[in-house]
Amino acid sequence: MSATVILGSQWGDEGKGKLVDRLAESATWVARFQGGNNAGHTVVIGDRILKFHLLPSGITREECGLVLGDGMVIDPWVLDRELNDWVAGGGKDPAGSRLFISARAHIILPYHRYLDGLDKKIGTTGRGIGPTYADKINRIGIRFADLPHCNPEAMAERQNLQLSNAGCEQRVTVDELKEQIEWISNRFSSAITNTGVLLDNALKLGEKIILEGAQGCLLDIDQGTYPFVTSSITSRGNAGHGAGIHPGHVEDVIGITKAYITRVGHGHMPTELFDDDGEHLGVVGHEFGTTTGRKRRCGWFDAVVMRHANRINGFTQIALTKLDVLGGLEEIKICIGYEMDGQEIHELPASAIDLERCSPIYITMPGFPLLSTEEWLGIAEKCNTNGLGFTGLPAAAQNYISKLESIIGVEITSVGVGPDRDATIDRV
Ligand code: GDP
Ligand code: IMO
Ligand code: MG
Repeated sequence: MSATVILGSQWGDEGKGKLVDRLAESATWVARFQGGNNAGHTVVIGDRILKFHLLPSGITREECGLVLGDGMVIDPWVLDRELNDWVAGGGKDPAGSRLFISARAHIILPYHRYLDGLDKKIGTTGRGIGPTYADKINRIGIRFADLPHCNPEAMAERQNLQLSNAGCEQRVTVDELKEQIEWISNRFSSAITNTGVLLDNALKLGEKIILEGAQGCLLDIDQGTYPFVTSSITSRGNAGHGAGIHPGHVEDVIGITKAYITRVGHGHMPTELFDDDGEHLGVVGHEFGTTTGRKRRCGWFDAVVMRHANRINGFTQIALTKLDVLGGLEEIKICIGYEMDGQEIHELPASAIDLERCSPIYITMPGFPLLSTEEWLGIAEKCNTNGLGFTGLPAAAQNYISKLESIIGVEITSVGVGPDRDATIDRV
């Protein structure tokens, strides 16, 4: 078997957690390969709402192994909290039995968070992600493999210099670093391993693995709307690499896209709405950040963004989410290109300053009725059990799906019509 990669194709929060939870039912491993607890992935099972920041969303499937891969940055205290919450909710602590942490993953330490707290420009999640990746690139980071070889005196000296150079008031002490290193080593010793080998062995045995992306293509450090991006490569090219397996294992790449678009943090979003339609998307879609609780900015579906994401990732399937949220809008718009300085363009400009000068060119589609969460869930059940697929959806919704599909040029294989695990319609 090969690896399936699940990637956000916009600015994050497309519904990756929900899809990973569904597909993990038939997988033996789910691995995260980049990012850290800047991610917030939601799984809704009946009245249980689960939010994961570090734990792979496949944790909901008891048989599924879990990997925090080489390319990640991991805050051990957040991981400890998430594990404790999982246990408090009735789960078994998976650390060391079915959850494994890459020895190569980098550790987010408190000073990384202090440094990230200074950010005013990007609107980061403040979780220490950027400073930890910066240390990694500067070859001064601390990985789980390095814990036994740490020199707390030298670490404290360097960290305090970095803090004072950045104008940060906080300082760290040798004693607290010693304690922290000991605590991390003890807490996670049974889980730290060469996770790439685990995944490679699983593939050799013909098992199915899922690589769970975090953030989205437009937040990719190279391919996103730099500098308003995260600090990792969020795309297909890094999925195998960040998990410690070669890219030839990756065959299926599912791009997830909302039926509209959202963004948290700073940076221009050409289709952003400031009117009643934007209010509708935010309210009906409950668009608040899973990690920071910030209000997500909402706009119409942007085909320029999607084409860019598809070029970078070569999606083999598209999972469309949150179609239900468009219900009740009289008209639905799709951005098919931008106007920049009087010229029509169809590719995303590389410069964030140029992107600010882009205004969307729209086509308009008829809307469909507002339905309740239960009504959508009922439609999903009917479509899946009666073999109707998308044909059980309102006609205008089917037209919208067909239009998006023809614009993207990749088959939409599932459509989300509600937050619940079962509120997804598969194509037949
Ligand atoms: P992720 O970061 O990509 O995993 O996405 P988030 O969990 O941060 O945000 C997606 C939000 O939309 C969550 O609250 C999900 O429960 C919810 N959601 C996912 N799919 C659907 C859908 O098809 N319809 C609706 N209404 N909500 C959805
Ligand atoms: P999931 O996996 C949405 C955004 C932040 C900020 C920028 C940089 O849930 O889709 P960072 O803390 O990474 O240095 O912040 O990236 N951002 C996200 N936006 N969903 C996410 O993750 C995000 N992770 C980071 O808001 O604009
Ligand atoms: Mg999220």
